Amino acid sequence: MKHIYTGKTKDVYELEDGNYLLQFKDDVTGVDGVFDPGANTVGLTIEGAGRSGLKLTKYFFEVLKEKGIPTHYVDADIEKATMTVKPAEVFGRGLEVICRYRAVGSFLRRYGLYAEEGQPLDAFVEVTIKDDDRQDPPISEDALDMLGVLSKDEYKVLKELTQQIGNVVKEELAKKGIELYDIKFEFGRTGEDRQIVLIDEISGGNMRAYKDGKYIEPLELEKLFL
Ligand SMILES: Nc1ncnc2c1ncn2[C@@H]1O[C@H](COP(=O)(O)OP(=O)(O)O)[C@@H](O)[C@H]1O
Ligand SMILES: [Mg+2]
Repeated sequence: MKHIYTGKTKDVYELEDGNYLLQFKDDVTGVDGVFDPGANTVGLTIEGAGRSGLKLTKYFFEVLKEKGIPTHYVDADIEKATMTVKPAEVFGRGLEVICRYRAVGSFLRRYGLYAEEGQPLDAFVEVTIKDDDRQDPPISEDALDMLGVLSKDEYKVLKELTQQIGNVVKEELAKKGIELYDIKFEFGRTGEDRQIVLIDEISGGNMRAYKDGKYIEPLELEKLFL
C-alpha cells in the first residue's frame, strides 16, 4: 500500500490493484476549536469522528449506487475507518461543488446585500476552487472553460449530477425530519472514458443539516440519522 496524500480529514493510499484507500481520521475542519464545514483548517479532533463520517458516507454512496448514479465507491470497512474507491483525476487541482437549499454560510456572507438568512434556494449550484491560500474562491462556468479546468459540456454534467445527488441526500434526511440547507461535493474523471463521478465523502462534515430550525453537529447527525 502506497501513501499518496495527506488531507485534512483523510489520508489516501494506493492499493496493489490500483484502487485507492481513503483512511478517515478523527480530525474535523473548523476554526479555533469550533466546527465549520466550510473551513480550510483542521479545527479540532473528535474521538470517533472518522468512523462516524464513514458510516454516513457508506450509507449515502450505497443509496446512490442503487439509483444508478455514478460514484467512485467500491466498499467500506467501518471498523478500520477505511473506504476503497476507484481512483479519479480531479478537475484542475481540485474543485468543490456546492448545492444550496437555504441561504447560509459563505452564500450569505457574499450576497447578504440581496439575500436574507435562511431564504430558500432551489438547489442552487456553485463551484469553488480548492485553494487554501486564496480561501477557495468561487469560479464561474466561463472561467472554468477559459482556464481549461472544465469544458462547458462537462460543466453541464457536473451541475446535473450535483442537483441529482443533493436532492437524494435531501430526501433521505427528510425521512428523519432533518432539513438539508447546503452540501459540498467533489467530483472527478475516472476510467478510460473519463466519466464524471462523485468522489470523496458525504458526511456531516460536508453539509449543514437542521432539525426544528436547530443546526445539527456532524456526529449528532450520524446518531440522529442512522
Ligand atoms: N476517488 C478519488 N480519486 C482521487 N482522489 C480522491 C478520490 N476521492 C477523494 N479524493 C481526494 O482525496 C483527498 C481526501 O482527503 P481530505 O482530507 O478530504 O483532503 P482535503 O484536505 O484536500 O479536503 C481529497 O483531496 C480528495 O479530493
Ligand atoms: Mg476534504
